[in-house]
Amino acid sequence: MQLSIIVPTYNEAPNVAELVRRVTAALDTVPGGIDAEILFVDDSTDATPEVIRAVAADAPLPVRLIHRDKAVGGLGGAVLEGFAAAAADACLVIDGDLQHPPERIPELWRRFSHGDVDVVIASRYAGGGTAHGLADRTRVMVSKSSTAVTRAMFPIRLREVTDPMTGFFLIDRRSVDQALLRPRGFKILLEILARRPMRIAEVPFDFADRHAGDSKASVRQGLHFLTQLTALRFGKMSLFAVIGGLGAVANVAIVWALTQLGVDYILAAIVAAEVTIVGNFLLQERFVFDDMRDNASGVWLRFAKSFTFNNAEALVRIPIVAVMVSTGHISAVVATAITLVLAFFVRFLFHSLVVYAP
Ligand code: GDD
Ligand code: MN
Repeated sequence: MQLSIIVPTYNEAPNVAELVRRVTAALDTVPGGIDAEILFVDDSTDATPEVIRAVAADAPLPVRLIHRDKAVGGLGGAVLEGFAAAAADACLVIDGDLQHPPERIPELWRRFSHGDVDVVIASRYAGGGTAHGLADRTRVMVSKSSTAVTRAMFPIRLREVTDPMTGFFLIDRRSVDQALLRPRGFKILLEILARRPMRIAEVPFDFADRHAGDSKASVRQGLHFLTQLTALRFGKMSLFAVIGGLGAVANVAIVWALTQLGVDYILAAIVAAEVTIVGNFLLQERFVFDDMRDNASGVWLRFAKSFTFNNAEALVRIPIVAVMVSTGHISAVVATAITLVLAFFVRFLFHSLVVYAP
C-alpha cells in the first residue's frame, strides 16, 4: 500500500458516497496509478457507518471503517487513530464534507513523492489558494486572525506555513511522534508542527462549500483552540498560573464584598477560600487538564483530591508563615509571598502527578 487516505467523520452520511467517488476519480488521474486505501475514522451518531459499509462493498479500492464508540480527542484523536491503523506510512488527511477537493490529491502526492519533505500541507492561504467555503465574514475573520496569532506564537516552526490550521495534508506518519501528541479538537496539524521540526511543503487549494450537512465547528471549539494553543506554547503551568491568579483576585473580591455586607471577616475569608477552590477546580478541569481527564480517575475523586489538597495547603501555610516570621527576620508580607509561590509549584505538581494521574 502506497497511500492511506484518512477521513475523520462525524455525521457525514450524505457526503460519503460522493467523497469516495471523487477520491477514486482523482486517484485514477495519477500517472502510473497508485495503490491506495480510504480509511474512515468515524464518531457519528447517525447512519454514517452503515453508509460507509454500503459504499465500501462496491468501491474499486479498499475502503475501511473504524467506528469509535467514545470520541476520544474529537477530530484530532480520530486522525491519530487513523495514523495508527493506516496500511501505508504516507497518510493523507481530508475532511469528509468535500470542502477539501479530492482533485488536489494527485498534486499533494506528486509533491510528496519527491521524498524531500515529511509533510505536504494543502493551504487556503498560499498563492492560488482560497477560503471562500468559510461560511460567513465572521468565520473568515476568525480564521485569518487566529492563523496570524498562531504563526506569531511559533515564528520558527511555522515560518514557511501559511495555513497551520488546515485539515488537509499528506504526512509521513513516521515523522509524527504520537506519544508526544495530546490531540484535542480541530488543530491536529498545528500540534504536529509545533512539537518538532519538520520538512514542509505547501500546495494551494480552494476551500469549497460543504457538499451537505452542517459544520461541527463552534465557539466551544474556538475557545478550546485558544486554551490549547496557550498550553502548547507556554506549557500547562502557565495556564494553571493564570487560573490561580484569577482565583486570587476573585478571593480578595469576595472577602471585600462580604465584609461590606457586614459578614464577619473570618467567615468571609472561609467562604471566599472555598468558592475559589471550587471555581479553580472547575476551570482547571475545563482548560488545563482537559486532555488528561479521560485517563484519570472519576470526576468526584479528582475533586476530592484537589479540594482536600487545597484546604490542607491553606491550613498548613498559615502556621508556616508564622514560624518564618518568628524565627527568620522577614516580614509577614514577604513570608506570605514566598509561601504562595512555593505553594503554587507544589499545587501544580500535585495536580499533574496525583489528581490527574493516569
Ligand atoms: N471522527 C470525528 N470526530 N470527525 C469529526 C469530529 C469528531 O469529533 N468533528 C468533526 N469531524 C469531521 C467532520 O465530519 C468533517 O469530516 C471534518 O472533521 C471537518 O469538520 P467540519 O465540521 O466540516 O469542520 P470545518 O469545515 O468547520 O473545519 C475545517 O476547516 C478548518 C479550518 O477552517 C476542518 O478542516 C478543520 O480541521 C480546519 O481547521
Ligand atoms: Mn467542513
